[in-house]
Amino acid sequence: MDQNKQIKIDALSKQVPLGDLYGIFFEDLNHAADGGLYAELIQNRSFEFDPIDNKNYHGLTAWEKIEKEGAEVKIWVESENPLNDKNKNYLGVEVKASGKGAGFLNKGFNTGVALVEKEVYDFSCYARTERGNCIAVEVSLVNDEGVCYGKEHIVISGDEWKQYHISFTSTGTDYSVRLAFLIKESGVAYFDMVSLFPKNTYRGRKNGLRPDIATMLEDLKPKFMRFPGGCLVHDGSLNSEDRDSMYRWKNTIGNVESRPPRRNNWGYNQTLGLGYYEYFLLCEDLGAKAIPVIPGGYDPHHKGIVPIEELGPWIDDALDLIEFANGDVNTTWGKKRAELGHSEPFCLEYIGIGNEEVGEPFFERYPYFHKAIKERYPDMKVINSSGPFAAGSEYDRGWKSAKEHNSDLVDEHYYQSPEWFLANYHRYDNFKADEPKVFLGEYASWGNTYYNALVEAAFMTGLEKNAHAVGLACYAPMLCNVDYINWQPDMIWFNNHQVYGTPNYYVQKLFMNHQGEYLLPTTAVGLSNAASPEEKGIQGKIAILSKGVKTSFRNIRFKDFITGEETVSSDVELDIDEIQDLFHTTSSHYELKLKGIRRTGGRGFEIFFGETDNTNRFVWEVGGWQNQDCLLTATVKGRNSCLTQSIFSMDLDREYDLTLEVEERTIRTYIDGILMNETRDNLPVIEDIYYTASIEDNNDIIAKFVNVKDQEITVDVVLNGMEDKELTGNVYQLSGYLPEDTNSFDTPNKIYPDETKILVKGKFSFTFPKESVTVIRLGLK
Ligand code: AHR
Repeated sequence: MDQNKQIKIDALSKQVPLGDLYGIFFEDLNHAADGGLYAELIQNRSFEFDPIDNKNYHGLTAWEKIEKEGAEVKIWVESENPLNDKNKNYLGVEVKASGKGAGFLNKGFNTGVALVEKEVYDFSCYARTERGNCIAVEVSLVNDEGVCYGKEHIVISGDEWKQYHISFTSTGTDYSVRLAFLIKESGVAYFDMVSLFPKNTYRGRKNGLRPDIATMLEDLKPKFMRFPGGCLVHDGSLNSEDRDSMYRWKNTIGNVESRPPRRNNWGYNQTLGLGYYEYFLLCEDLGAKAIPVIPGGYDPHHKGIVPIEELGPWIDDALDLIEFANGDVNTTWGKKRAELGHSEPFCLEYIGIGNEEVGEPFFERYPYFHKAIKERYPDMKVINSSGPFAAGSEYDRGWKSAKEHNSDLVDEHYYQSPEWFLANYHRYDNFKADEPKVFLGEYASWGNTYYNALVEAAFMTGLEKNAHAVGLACYAPMLCNVDYINWQPDMIWFNNHQVYGTPNYYVQKLFMNHQGEYLLPTTAVGLSNAASPEEKGIQGKIAILSKGVKTSFRNIRFKDFITGEETVSSDVELDIDEIQDLFHTTSSHYELKLKGIRRTGGRGFEIFFGETDNTNRFVWEVGGWQNQDCLLTATVKGRNSCLTQSIFSMDLDREYDLTLEVEERTIRTYIDGILMNETRDNLPVIEDIYYTASIEDNNDIIAKFVNVKDQEITVDVVLNGMEDKELTGNVYQLSGYLPEDTNSFDTPNKIYPDETKILVKGKFSFTFPKESVTVIRLGLK
């Protein structure tokens, strides 16, 4: 036993409560809801798909006519006599000759409708025909080879919309099935809200959720669930009636056939079948607190701004949502909740205003929401936003606003390289307990490998140790349908019949399952907590990229402050996407000066520096993203981190004076002499071991250890004051994997925590394998 290395846990002195620290974040991107968690098997069930949602969409997306030998069929979408005024489109079918089969089918999601033998599927649709007519329709579940797993008939009569129901028990398992309608005679019929749900939904709920995916969430034991986004909260028009409006919760409750069609800003259609009521039910089922996020009257993506004097209905939306969740059944919205089937309140404690907000308009509006909510619901915890970046002017603006208005929490988001997470392990060490708490509402390192998960685990021990300042944290995004990827990495992957958790999922699960109620003080003896990496300045190639635009540059000068040497480059004209190398330096104290003009296009340009190869470089984006950012990023091994950002947009045909200064690892940028960015890119530091400890209300002591290094380490774990006590419990461990290992549909549990029993005294020696995550949970014997 190496006597020098000890981690002492003060098991008798409960520190900060860990509260609701670890939770989950649901956003309908990657078809997380439709074609995902929401169990509906029919795609475009109400014929509302539209090019506004996705330029390739139309009312018949995912639908096809069936016209077998001798048949003649016409199908179309119309809206003259709709089911209701929110659900305008419906399908018209005219069979001129029924031949060997005439009708239409739905292709479902992914490879098709997924059926499991002996499972029951509930079909329903609204339909009508012409006055005085009856039409017989055969409804079947059939694959492209003609294998049928269930066949029933409905007879549609009259010209009024009526709902028809069938239950199928599938005679086989097949994941590429179509829902087919065959009409046996000539005539015209109309269909809408064609639905097929597995009877087996999560907890058997109607209009419910896929049990396999929901069970993965339940297994996490999250303390909270943030919803419904993400960008889809605030990306959209200001008019709640528009299909591309921001996410307005009142559109998402009530009968599914009366929920309006909605463009999901991730490029598809969102049925809203999984709306706010279903969300609150899911939270209840998971034992997670709801954290709804509502728009703050500003769309930073399109600069849509609600005038302050018109904010009233937006603030009412917030107050009404709280009433919908918590209000007595005699209140307007509490009554609506009761009518939907839940007379008990949902006990909402948190509400978020805005997603990742940048720009003054949001911060002008936030105080109105905050004040109104606190006046009516003083105990409601109100969450402010600090934008999409880990640092910079907008991040600071969010925190300033939060401090000024006494927000309870501030929503921080960052997606960064593993190296950034290691370098920023101590990010929250100096945050104060008496200021708004951090809600780390979206974070992930770029990737779903074991190494990503390992680094995230190390970082999470830092979140936990700083529970005085970090109130809530959730990985993002959570769900991804493999055939509809908008964003990756993601925590859980699925197709139409399988689901698996990534290594990142199992880290989250270990931390959520073993969070503990209170932090315990820990002290390390003989362990390095800040092994300095070899300090290396930023050196390498300097180049300009004209991404998507035409540009001109002149007066290009490089000055090496170490040698005093100055080099001049000739003027540069760049066409769209052209790149021009300028200098290469081995100095790490230098200055680049140039004058630059954007001649075309919707954004600015990029200046590369410190480039050692294609996958390792720094970038100064001038007028980046939608020509609204001035940011500095670091790419390490192909993975990007935003180091800092400020707001800046570049005028067309205007010349700007640009200066980049590098001093070892400190970077400064200036535009027209004004300091735009200043940051230090710290190199990653790998500590000997990352650790934290907590205690449950039942006195179970939990210690978490993460060894990121590629060598094992033996440590004495000492429970102060309990050294001679006998303790028993379990060890949960991830170890023995290669950094690049991951899970997949074929090997869903390749990376999966081992569980073993442990019997120890209150002082014991433990060897943590290289690259491992270990949770030790102990109780008195
Ligand atoms: O999680 C994916 C996206 O990342 C979210 O929509 C947004 O909030 C962030 O930019």
